[in-house]
Amino acid sequence: MNGNRFGRLFQVTTYGESHGEAMGVTVSGCPAGLELSEEDVQRDLDRRKPGQSMITTSRNEPDAVTINSGIQDGYTTGTPIGMIIQNKDARSGKYEPFVTAPRPSHGDFTYSAKFGTRNWGGGGRSSARETVNWVAAGAVAKKILAERGIELKAHVNQIGDVRADEVNFEELVERSEENEVRCADPDAADEMLAAIDEYQREGDSIGGSIYFETRGVPRGLGAPRFDSVEARLGQAMLAIPATTAFEFGLGKEAREWAGSDRNDEWKFDSNGDPKPASNRHGGLQGGITTGEPIYGEVTLHAPTSIPKTQTTVDWETGEEKEVQVIGRHDPVLPPRGVPVVEAVLALTLVDFMLLGGYINPDRLDDRPGEYDTKYHPTAPDE
Ligand SMILES: Cc1cc2nc3c(=O)[nH]c(=O)nc-3n(C[C@H](O)[C@H](O)[C@H](O)COP(=O)(O)O)c2cc1C
Repeated sequence: MNGNRFGRLFQVTTYGESHGEAMGVTVSGCPAGLELSEEDVQRDLDRRKPGQSMITTSRNEPDAVTINSGIQDGYTTGTPIGMIIQNKDARSGKYEPFVTAPRPSHGDFTYSAKFGTRNWGGGGRSSARETVNWVAAGAVAKKILAERGIELKAHVNQIGDVRADEVNFEELVERSEENEVRCADPDAADEMLAAIDEYQREGDSIGGSIYFETRGVPRGLGAPRFDSVEARLGQAMLAIPATTAFEFGLGKEAREWAGSDRNDEWKFDSNGDPKPASNRHGGLQGGITTGEPIYGEVTLHAPTSIPKTQTTVDWETGEEKEVQVIGRHDPVLPPRGVPVVEAVLALTLVDFMLLGGYINPDRLDDRPGEYDTKYHPTAPDE
């Protein structure tokens, strides 16, 4: 099975199964000189981890990361960064009924049909447990972007039919972590919680969406035609388990807009530089960044593993049967998906920055203090 590597210059390779011993990721292509600690990575892992609240699965994983290569004295060395997250709370017994009777709409059937075998505990490799690796790698990418003054943030903007009001970037940053739904509109967050609770009580689950936005992305990232930023970003976002739609700018709404309304007219800024007067294009024109904020939305369907009774088939007995998925599952995905969307966005942008020569692939030029010398590693004692 291939398809476990993401990125061209900033390469992320992952392994692990939901109920296996551990999840792991190698980040190859990170320049030397980035200050990086396990705490930097742990911060984002804690936002994704299970067992955070009543609206996340009760699986009790500490998701503690160990960085086991690629760092010396707190800085990256330019060699592969290896990270491992142990699986501590796997209970496979609840998955035995589904070994030959696939859960409706999960990856159970397609994995078995394709490979003739599968690791069935917890959904194995098809489980979104895999995204713990993406968030770990994304934390490294976010640090590189932060050094370049680039910010990004996501929040939950819809659960079921409860839609959050639009928020500006400052509100997005300040408010989205203040409630367990991760929605920067507190009134909508309360309504979302009530809706989730209702579905949960009925043994059901519900879908939703995540809004993302950036600040400070330079003009000129992306290349015609298949390397357009939206093409690469869409591919990456659609790889997030349960994602059914990726939109940027006006997204699907664009079909209702006349050209004269949708167009972003050009003006000169105070430096005499051409600048779009508005940003309905979502920071991307001709597949290339304009320097305006990139923003968009990712839709995630309702989790498929639900206690409500559904019909499946058992390919061993040849019988149809009723199933209830009683394991520990998220009743809704966007609250835990927020750090995953941020990670995928950061990974895509860093890859484009390296490809475009915006970042020196060997070493960050602005290494601080004692490491800001021509040759290391003995520089501090010389
Ligand atoms: C953060 C996150 C957590 C998830 N948790 C669950 C879960 O607890 N139960 C479940 O059935 N699906 C969960 N999913 C979705 C499944 O992983 C996904 O439906 C499955 O891999 C099949 O892929 P597909 O829906 O893209 O076809 C989760 C997805 C994400 C992004």
